[in-house]
Amino acid sequence: MNIFITGAAGYIGGSVATRLLAEGHSIRGLVRKPGLADALQARGITPVLGDLDNAALLTAEAQRTDAVINAASSDHRASVEALLQGLRGSGKAFIHTSGSSVIGDDVGGDVLSPNIFEEDTPLIVEPKKEARHAIDNLILAAANDGVRSIVLCNTMIYGTGTGLHAQSVQIPPLVAQAQKNGVVRVVGRGVNRWSNVHIDDVAALYGLALAKAPAGSFYFVENGEASYGEIGAAIARRLGLGAVQSWSVEEATREWGVGHARYSFGSNSRVRSVRARRELGWEPVHASVTEWIEREMPIA
Ligand SMILES: NC(=O)c1ccc[n+]([C@@H]2O[C@H](COP(=O)([O-])OP(=O)(O)OC[C@H]3O[C@@H](n4cnc5c(N)ncnc54)[C@H](OP(=O)(O)O)[C@@H]3O)[C@@H](O)[C@H]2O)c1
Repeated sequence: MNIFITGAAGYIGGSVATRLLAEGHSIRGLVRKPGLADALQARGITPVLGDLDNAALLTAEAQRTDAVINAASSDHRASVEALLQGLRGSGKAFIHTSGSSVIGDDVGGDVLSPNIFEEDTPLIVEPKKEARHAIDNLILAAANDGVRSIVLCNTMIYGTGTGLHAQSVQIPPLVAQAQKNGVVRVVGRGVNRWSNVHIDDVAALYGLALAKAPAGSFYFVENGEASYGEIGAAIARRLGLGAVQSWSVEEATREWGVGHARYSFGSNSRVRSVRARRELGWEPVHASVTEWIEREMPIA
């Protein structure tokens, strides 16, 4: 199959591309930094130079390909509209990368939420995440317009990626702060929990969804969960540092920015991947983020 992937130089898009190439697919990959085009080419991905704001380019790429995987951004609505424009009426697959901060709360690390969402559970969406939720719904609705649209709602992804960009977005900033200051810090008491999943299992699910997912399907992508206190303690053991210390939301915001401080490190996002296992036969194999941190996480 010929597949167009946005974010082909990124962590998720690059790892998915590596997997799909190994499965025998041909990949064209959107990349905005000209300097990365040769590196993609060397990996067997045909680079398409451009930006998510280039609607005409995205529509044309969607029209010429057999399937689209959007892995550059969970939040860029105009690019989603442009890609759907090119796919309308074709019956081709469109896999969108969403993220489970869409049901994240805002508790400053001090509350363990009892809310655990499965795909059929009505979502509770914070106002700050309404725009992301609306994009997911727009994509699911495209099933009525002849698009085999699929939303993969990823949780905290960990593990070393297999594309050009090997690092994810949540654990590395925690580690970087700890290395800089000699102490691991979490937001509040760190009792808040996030579901998580290994990048290799994520890439496998993208392949399964491409092959089998029906139009208009939404899947959470998780295989376990941990509190930020547990993750912080694992980082401290990995780095040989002492007890994890607490930061207020304000202190954390100064280090990591408001998005990370409040809607990742300070929040709960607890989901269960029921549908991917049941409908697609997904069998993730990596089950513990804390074991990965302690035994496998590379440190500079
Ligand atoms: N990693 C996770 O745990 C996780 C979980 C759930 C959801 N998500 C979401 O999934 C998306 C991808 O995440 P990721 O971890 O793969 O991030 P990443 O490693 O930063 O990859 C994103 C890629 O998309 C490219 N990109 C971003 N904006 C673009 C634009 N306007 N035009 C063209 N290319 C653009 C980036 O290019 P540059 O290299 O030039 O910046 C980068 O190569 C993000 O929206 C993220 O919030 C991530």
